[in-house]
Amino acid sequence: MSSPATLSGRVAVITGGASGIGRATAVLLAQHGSRVFVGDFRLTPETQQSLQALEIDASACDVRNVADLQRLIDGAANAAGRLDILVNNAGIGMVKQVQAVSEEDWDNCLDTNFKAAFFGAKFAIPHLIAAGGGSIVNTASNAGLLPRAHDPVYSISKMALIGLTKSLALCHSKDRIRINAVCPGPVIDTGMMNADLAAAADRGATAKQFIAASPLANAHARMIRPDEVAEAILYLVSDAACMVTGTAIAIDGGKSLGVPPKS
Ligand code: NAI
Repeated sequence: MSSPATLSGRVAVITGGASGIGRATAVLLAQHGSRVFVGDFRLTPETQQSLQALEIDASACDVRNVADLQRLIDGAANAAGRLDILVNNAGIGMVKQVQAVSEEDWDNCLDTNFKAAFFGAKFAIPHLIAAGGGSIVNTASNAGLLPRAHDPVYSISKMALIGLTKSLALCHSKDRIRINAVCPGPVIDTGMMNADLAAAADRGATAKQFIAASPLANAHARMIRPDEVAEAILYLVSDAACMVTGTAIAIDGGKSLGVPPKS
């Protein structure tokens, strides 16, 4: 177990930190001593207040807008005097078959899930170099490891994100910058999962299908929790992972291993 002081003196930016996995990560990193800056395009006054109560700074940012992203990252580094950690977590789903996908859908999904991670890294890297090194974690998905038939564009965006992770990890090891990905799913209590369940004809049956597709979720008779993904991100940004880069860690209860056994 890492000590609560693991990230003392470190400064982190987390995109999509208003809810779900991003919020759980912001809270966990702050509990471990990091100063945390969250950017999200869906920030209610209540969310902002609840994060501020935990001394987490939250500001409006649409990661599809490169200028917004730069403002978030440079603003955090300037306010705190340094930047050590970037978590490119903001993401959206895209459950559509190929013939139904418009150019706007494609741009929306790829700009949020993929392009923003590249430009986030681009803007963070000079600050991380100035700090003597640092860590970037990209929230990918089990869909980035094993594509799914129901959401091809989402799968493409997350596979591309894993490629980006490995490529940038190679480029910036010399700067002592580590770049890794987490591949979660299915995660409960998130905006994304809540939307999927709300859209389902039978919420209970759909939740059971999500659980059945992940061997460990099935064994525990529950989905994965946001804090269980946040723990993996905490490890990856901490000094315990000093020699870990370019990895894509599945926090998916074995969902991406293959076809689960019949229960
Ligand atoms: P969520 O919907 O609770 O969190 C996503 C956050 O990103 C939200 O706060 C949303 O407002 C923000 N966001 C979306 N587009 C944005 C934009 N253009 N600019 C700024 N913020 C934006 O859902 P969840 O599940 O916590 O999603 C976090 C990440 O986890 C996403 O990248 C998602 O693809 C990934 N993921 C989630 C899984 C799940 O089962 N919930 C499974 C695999 C991956």
